Amino acid sequence: MDLSRGALILFSLIYSVAGQAPVISVEPRAATVRKGESVSFRCIVKLTDSNSRPLEVQWKKANNQALPDNVKVGPDGSVLTVVNAVPGNHGQYRCVVSSAAGRSTANVMLTVKYAPKVRLTPSGPLRVRKGEAVSVECRAQGRPNPTLSWKRQGSTLKLVTAEENDVNTIKFPAIHPDDSGVYICLAENTEGMTEAKIEIIVEREPGSPVASVTPTEITAVEGHTVIIECQASGSPPPVITWSKLRAPLPWKHTVNGGVLTLTSVGRQDSGQYICNATNIHGYSEAYSDMEVETPPYTTILPDQVRLQPGDALQLQCLAHGTHPIQFTWSRVGRPSLSPTAELTNDGKLLIAKVKQSDSGTYKCVATNHIGSTEATTRVIIRA
Ligand SMILES: *[C@@H]1O[C@H](CO)[C@@H](O)[C@H](O)[C@H]1NC(C)=O
Repeated sequence: MDLSRGALILFSLIYSVAGQAPVISVEPRAATVRKGESVSFRCIVKLTDSNSRPLEVQWKKANNQALPDNVKVGPDGSVLTVVNAVPGNHGQYRCVVSSAAGRSTANVMLTVKYAPKVRLTPSGPLRVRKGEAVSVECRAQGRPNPTLSWKRQGSTLKLVTAEENDVNTIKFPAIHPDDSGVYICLAENTEGMTEAKIEIIVEREPGSPVASVTPTEITAVEGHTVIIECQASGSPPPVITWSKLRAPLPWKHTVNGGVLTLTSVGRQDSGQYICNATNIHGYSEAYSDMEVETPPYTTILPDQVRLQPGDALQLQCLAHGTHPIQFTWSRVGRPSLSPTAELTNDGKLLIAKVKQSDSGTYKCVATNHIGSTEATTRVIIRA
């Protein structure tokens, strides 16, 4: 008797005495559902011999906690169904099959995605005194992990926030009465966006200034005149000063009490204008956001080009101004461009192999909703 045959007999002997624990598999091994969806997992037992016949098929939570109410097991124990999944159903589940020969287990993973839930600490409304250090923490739960951000209702000004370990905190080292308002924490993931609001009320001393501007948002066309008005209350009546955020006021400006007049505005005058009302009790700032729109300023690169027949021609039309900008190309005094000319949305004109007949003056017209301007370039092709 050769050795391998002997080993096989020995193996069969042990096998038939002890039997074999059931061979099981699960289907699917992992599933991802949205909150409110349902999913089933099946535990499949492969019969290998009579001892592996399952006496019991059971589903459990992998952490051995009881199955939640919305998680049902079918009559023969093999199918686990999660009905209307809730975030708490997320986790591993285990199929346990016992037979005379032993026990086998297999795990499945359920991922339940859900829109963020947001919590603020403190929850507000928050009443504070001028000069106090104030911070509000925003925490969110959700799957996938949400991203957090803060904004102030009705304002585009930057806020001071700090993010650390899924907590985004808004901070006021020394709060000012102008910081009074509603602050919103936004939490966003693929399942949705949730926000939480807090009102912060900073007590003002009696008589301290309160400034407001009109309009708070301005879209002006280049060359026009813009008037911004600032109203300030307070006692004694506050003194009003005007400034521009991170820049000096345009030199073509006049101030008359609370009225700021900007004559013939240009693109560089876009930005935030600040009215500052000051009296002995303190100050108050109000912001006005101005955007100046301009027609395109057009140039072509290069401004002259000499080529030989067969060379490649590339002209780039460049335009500064309010977007979107459209480009159109033509040839001065000629009905049309070469049929081989290729035009791109970003203002390029390309001819892979020029012919003598492609010579001429090329014109680019750049247009936006304010107006249009043009530029030309000479193309000389000679053998
Ligand atoms: C407004 O005036 C106060 C008091 O003079 C000053 O501290 C503050 O920096 C001013 N704000 C701006 C934007 O100039």
